Amino acid sequence: MHKYSKVCLLGLGYIGLPTAVLLANRGYEVLGVDINPDVVDSVNQGKLHIVEPGLDAFLRSAVNSGNLKASLTPSEADVFIIAVPTPTKDDHSPVTDYVFDAAKSIIPFLKKDNLVINESTSPIGTTEGIEKLLSDSGVNTEELFIAYCPERVLPGKIMLELVENDRIIGGTRPDSSEVAAAFYKTFIEGEAFKSDSKTAEMAKLSENSYRDVNIAFANELSLLCNTFGINPWELIKLANRHPRVNILTPGCGVGGHCIAVDPWFLVHSDPENSVLIRTARERNDYKSAWVAQSIMTEAEKFKADNGKEAKIACMGLAFKPNIDDLRESPALEITEMVIDKGYEVIPVEPNIEKFRGEPLVGYETAVKEADIIVLLVNHKEFSDIDTSGKKVLNFCGVNQI
Ligand SMILES: NC(=O)c1ccc[n+]([C@@H]2O[C@H](COP(=O)([O-])OP(=O)(O)OC[C@H]3O[C@@H](n4cnc5c(N)ncnc54)[C@H](O)[C@@H]3O)[C@@H](O)[C@H]2O)c1
Repeated sequence: MHKYSKVCLLGLGYIGLPTAVLLANRGYEVLGVDINPDVVDSVNQGKLHIVEPGLDAFLRSAVNSGNLKASLTPSEADVFIIAVPTPTKDDHSPVTDYVFDAAKSIIPFLKKDNLVINESTSPIGTTEGIEKLLSDSGVNTEELFIAYCPERVLPGKIMLELVENDRIIGGTRPDSSEVAAAFYKTFIEGEAFKSDSKTAEMAKLSENSYRDVNIAFANELSLLCNTFGINPWELIKLANRHPRVNILTPGCGVGGHCIAVDPWFLVHSDPENSVLIRTARERNDYKSAWVAQSIMTEAEKFKADNGKEAKIACMGLAFKPNIDDLRESPALEITEMVIDKGYEVIPVEPNIEKFRGEPLVGYETAVKEADIIVLLVNHKEFSDIDTSGKKVLNFCGVNQI
């Protein structure tokens, strides 16, 4: 098997940076490449530009050891790993330009026996597309090993899960799967399951679509519960006592840059056969719009009863509990929707300091000042707030689950 020692990793974000740091600390000579000069500078100074528990100490040791360097441009290596963004456009079609730009940028440095890995969540066929792009550019891809190896880490636990999670290794040829799996086995403790690139791509998209569909079911139940005046948390707790039922937790929508995005890749590639996945995506988006509308209806009721505008504390802006990540966050979207409709909102997010350039007030002050408390994210801080005498709208199960 090939003995690889030099890695060039493209994209130093939430996935690429921890991976680069892990590889450097395992003795690989790693060049991390990013098109953002600020990212390159901070990595070279051993400073974190993302929030991830435990990563800062590992980053410092990787940089201090001399094994991790960052640059704006790639250079020769044994292994190239692509971990760049794959967002969707406004019409939900996937953007693969970053992946193909990254692939193009390594062309001058490729040589025989190099391993090229795509870790970016990608529409089915993207990794074969990389192979075609290289081959069309005159690279002899028969002499390379090309594979798709998706990431399934959970932000907040990345350093642990990078090592412990099982991986799917999808080569564009069987020998590429073998070579890529052997490479991963040098730094992971989970199993490396070999497959082909298209199956690996679809597996990643299926995992996140599975989560989205199941959350949509829970969110739909919460709407039904609202109609009938039933507590959704109690209902789900009871239904889950069935030995073969495990309903997930409803919330104010689905956020983050994975579950709310990746199912669209499947829908876009075969709309006719992805009706359930599309409907789930739309139901989860609808839940956010429904929450926003419910808040405004309650504010109007307050105004009619009290002859003054309600002060609304929107509790939580992040896309899930106990993190500071606002990307694709339904709580943020709901809060902004209510603000933009002219209501008096006190935004609360214990994990960040500023919102729209203004310092945020603490959650205890907000609760004291508000007439309506809207629980959007089940942050640990909210479990002991005193809401007595206030109207509370609980959309995330604080103190219920
Ligand atoms: N963050 C997660 O939890 C997670 C989990 C699983 C999979 N993924 C997938 O991993 C991929 C990367 O996600 P992320 O969260 O790390 O993104 P990110 O936005 O945090 O980081 C990506 C980095 O890539 C850089 N970049 C863009 N184009 C480049 C290029 N041509 N060359 C070099 N660098 C380039 C950007 O400047 C950015 O710093 C995406 O496909 C995402 O869907 C993310």
